[in-house]
Amino acid sequence: MAVNIILLGPPGAGKGTQARRLVEERGLVQLSTGDMLREARSSGTEMGQRVAEVMDRGQLVTDEIVIGLIREKIEAGQGEGFIFDGFPRTLPQADALDALMAETGSQIDAVIEMRVDDEALVDRVSGRYTCGNCGEVYHDKTRPTKVEGTCDVCGSTDLRRRPDDNEDALKTRLLEYYKKTSPLIGYYYCKGNLRPVDGLAEIEAVAEAMAAAIDGEAASPAGQRTA
Ligand code: AP5
Repeated sequence: MAVNIILLGPPGAGKGTQARRLVEERGLVQLSTGDMLREARSSGTEMGQRVAEVMDRGQLVTDEIVIGLIREKIEAGQGEGFIFDGFPRTLPQADALDALMAETGSQIDAVIEMRVDDEALVDRVSGRYTCGNCGEVYHDKTRPTKVEGTCDVCGSTDLRRRPDDNEDALKTRLLEYYKKTSPLIGYYYCKGNLRPVDGLAEIEAVAEAMAAAIDGEAASPAGQRTA
C-alpha cells in the first residue's frame, strides 16, 4: 500500500538527509520543492531568475509556484508513495495538498516533525555541502566525504555549497519558518497525524525513530506533543 509522508522542520533539520534514506529503503518518491526550485532557477528563464532572487534572500517562493510544481508531480503518479520534503510550508500549501490528495484518492499517513534547536541549525547549515551530480548531502564535521573532494556515492568531484547557506539568509529562512511554517505543527496535530522526532540525535538514530513513527510504533500516541 502506498504511504505518503511529510517531513516538517526548520532549515537544516535533516529533512533532505532522511528523505534520501527513505527513498532507498522504502522505494518512496522524494518531492523536494527546494530541489525543484533550484532546478527552475538553473533553467535561466525569467521565472527561474525571480525564484533565485527570492531563495537567495531566504524568503519563501509564492504558494502559486510551488503548488503548481507539486501538482505536476502528484498527477504524474505515485508508486510506493511520496515523501514531501519542504512542502507544505504555509497553510494555503497544506490546504492545496489536502485537496490534491483527495482528488487522487490518497492521504497523508504521517507528518514527521523534526525537532532541532536553532544553534544546531546554524552549525548544520554552515557546514553543509552536496554533490552536484547525485545530490548526496555531506557536512564538514559530522558527515564528510571519505575521500576529500569526491562524492562517496557517485565519485563526482562536483561538490557544492548553496548560496542561501550564509548567516543572513539563514536568519531570514528561520524567521520565515517560525512565521509561516510552524503553524503547520498545530494544523497536523489537530488532524492527528503529527509524529515528533528528536532531530538532534545522530543521523542513524533519527532514521530509526522515523521508521518507528512511520510504522506506528512511536512510544507516544500519534500527534501527542511532549514539550
Ligand atoms: P529547501 O531546499 O527546502 O531548504 P530548507 O527547508 O531550508 O532545508 P535545508 O535543505 O536547508 O535542510 P534540510 O532539513 O534538508 O537538512 P539537510 O538534510 O540538508 O528550501 C530552500 C529554499 O527554497 C527556501 O528557503 C525557499 O526560498 C524555497 N522553498 C522551498 N520549498 C518551498 C515551499 N514549499 N514554499 C515556498 N518556498 C519554498 O541537513 C543539513 C546538514 O546537517 C547537512 O550537512 C547534513 O549532513 C547535516 N545533518 C543532517 N542530519 C543530521 C544529524 N542528525 N546530525 C548531525 N548532522 C546532520
